[in-house]
Amino acid sequence: MADKKFAVVLLVLFQPCNSEEVACDGIIFHEVYYDREILFRDLGRPYNLIMHKFSGLLFFSHTVQNVTHVDFTITTCHVDKKECHDVRGIPGGYAIAYDPGNDDIYLGGHDGIYKYNFLTQSAEFFAEEGKSIWGIFVKRNFYYIQYPNQKLHVYQDDNFVPVFEARNIEIDHFFISKHMDIYFSNRTALYKVERPKKEAILLNDDTVIRQIVEDGYGDIYFCASDGIYIEDKPYTRTKQVAQINQAFGLTFDEHDNIIYSDQDSIYRLLPSKSSNLCYQAIKAMAARDPEAKSVPREHIIS
Ligand SMILES: *[C@@H]1O[C@H](CO)[C@@H](O)[C@H](O)[C@H]1NC(C)=O
Ligand SMILES: *[C@@H]1O[C@H](CO)[C@@H](O)[C@H](O)[C@H]1NC(C)=O
Repeated sequence: MADKKFAVVLLVLFQPCNSEEVACDGIIFHEVYYDREILFRDLGRPYNLIMHKFSGLLFFSHTVQNVTHVDFTITTCHVDKKECHDVRGIPGGYAIAYDPGNDDIYLGGHDGIYKYNFLTQSAEFFAEEGKSIWGIFVKRNFYYIQYPNQKLHVYQDDNFVPVFEARNIEIDHFFISKHMDIYFSNRTALYKVERPKKEAILLNDDTVIRQIVEDGYGDIYFCASDGIYIEDKPYTRTKQVAQINQAFGLTFDEHDNIIYSDQDSIYRLLPSKSSNLCYQAIKAMAARDPEAKSVPREHIIS
């Protein structure tokens, strides 16, 4: 019954007074029930979700089947118009970063770093020809992670150089918060480095981190293979705030609504008219079936 564990929540509640049907097919995020809008479907592992708030464009990378092998491509979609196009000019497009200082989008692939041109809707070469780029992060400084050695580099004096503090470790995801704390993950675990200390504090070593993001209030979220986590302050640990089977990416739209992906679709969470009703119903079902990670498909008729 492996698939039962993560079945989509689908509770249909018939309210006796107005006999209106309510489908509780959204999710609980941080103790609040949200309706779930499917934005884009039939995608292969949508990774690295980045919302460009001024243009309304959502950037993400996903797998595409080439004749002989699986490759990555970066696509942009207008979230409200539901129009998508692949970004031309970047082989094996995978890494995506937003530069908040200059309102630019940077992209990385098999052959270096590119800047997105919003007019031509294509990638223009920027730096690091011949290098394969796993991740990019821009805030004050310009960082990238090289693939496959997972070495973190920073732009300094007209050059990209390895970050000294990270010279002996691999880094898979790297993030600097508004408060200038550093979060990073590698194959071993998820860590935090609080300024001015240099020591990496362990936050979580039992899930696979796929993206680290920050909302408009400066709260940090970790998208992991089994859901979404936040830092459980003041403890040095994380707390799961949403259970999602195979979450791949996370970002926020211009109203700070959550946009996330699972292995084949991208969703947006929206405030629900039936929030209390669905929250109660889902919690009641979870209590009856504590083994289940999520709630099995079922109908309740009252
Ligand atoms: C398939 O891969 C080859 C070599 O990497 C590339 O030249 C070609 O454009 C790719 N085709 C598609 C449809 O992505
Ligand atoms: C991940 O980072 C931690 C903290 O710096 C380090 O101890 C560990 O060796 C790193 N793992 C890998 C695979 O580099």
